[in-house]
Amino acid sequence: MTHAMVVDAIGGPEVMTWRPFDPGAPRADELRVRQTAAGLNFIDVYLRNGTYKAPTFPFVPGKEGAGVVVAVGSDVRGFSAGDRVAYSAASGTYAEEINVPAAIAVRIPEAIADDVAAGIMLKGMTAEYLLRRTFPVGPGHTILIHAAAGGVGLIAGQWAKHLGATVIGTAGSDDKVRLALDHGYDHVVNYRTDNFVERVADITGGAKCDVVYDSVGRDTFPASLDCLKRRGLFVSFGQSSGTIQNFDLALLNQKGSLYATRPSLFGYTATREELEASAGALFEVVRSGAVKVRIDQRYPVEDAGRAHRDLEGRRTTGISILTVG
Ligand SMILES: NC(=O)c1ccc[n+]([C@@H]2O[C@H](COP(=O)([O-])OP(=O)(O)OC[C@H]3O[C@@H](n4cnc5c(N)ncnc54)[C@H](OP(=O)(O)O)[C@@H]3O)[C@@H](O)[C@H]2O)c1
Repeated sequence: MTHAMVVDAIGGPEVMTWRPFDPGAPRADELRVRQTAAGLNFIDVYLRNGTYKAPTFPFVPGKEGAGVVVAVGSDVRGFSAGDRVAYSAASGTYAEEINVPAAIAVRIPEAIADDVAAGIMLKGMTAEYLLRRTFPVGPGHTILIHAAAGGVGLIAGQWAKHLGATVIGTAGSDDKVRLALDHGYDHVVNYRTDNFVERVADITGGAKCDVVYDSVGRDTFPASLDCLKRRGLFVSFGQSSGTIQNFDLALLNQKGSLYATRPSLFGYTATREELEASAGALFEVVRSGAVKVRIDQRYPVEDAGRAHRDLEGRRTTGISILTVG
């Protein structure tokens, strides 16, 4: 019998227990994967603490992971046993073995290690769609990315710089500010000690930003809107500090005919073509060195509770991996 981390009820990290868990035989459209690593993401916290509704209880957390195919469902084409694969939208990657729909798996290029793939699929494809599709960032644009030293933040800063933008970030400590400055950001504001609206106005000489990427939510709203130019775009893509309540559309008028969107990776990688294009672009920027990947924290998967505490406690930087086996 293989093992997995199982969540029995909504609650703190203590509701997760590592125990024997049988994922069952793969369905005809699935791959059975022996995992080598799972990625840690804030969505895992949201599903555990009830911010997002989990589809069933008990459930195994984790969307992102990588490993080796050990069995292939009868309808699957294009994958075989022994392939190294990764995914960002699986159900239950905090596990030794998992059944993954072949439609959401991609083969990992030789140049990319399993643990890197396990840590970048969700965060890196998020950076891809935010910077290339939600708002196509390029030379001449000035952008603001909150939580710049985080998992998405460190990838997005480097990728945005590679696309030619002027990149401003925020981070919650001076060490994190330095880390973000080493990863593509032109300017980074410590938003625990400095007023980021005033600093963005100073940095841009009053011109402000074309787009703000905000994954912090409650604590940075509505101030993020004050960092935008007239007709700029507010991209709310997460809520690490809590959800934004009562968003009054009239604010968009008052703050300068702004646009706002609330996108999700799953809405940008819904078709096989979108998934392959997004993963392909991500693998390419990593392979070329335009985006350097840092795995700053590694936890045995059995220790996922500590990983959640660190993520929620703002003690992590860059990517965190749960190692399996
Ligand atoms: N919509 C999508 O498609 C999508 C996809 C992936 C991720 N996301 C979102 O992107 C965000 C980043 O995800 P991630 O996994 O890479 O996490 P992360 O950025 O590595 O960690 C979250 C960071 O948020 C900051 N933060 C600010 N206030 C916080 C608070 N009250 N509690 C905890 N953290 C706080 C912290 O950085 P500082 O200390 O520097 O403030 C913390 O390190 C999350 O909100 C996630 O939900 C959205």
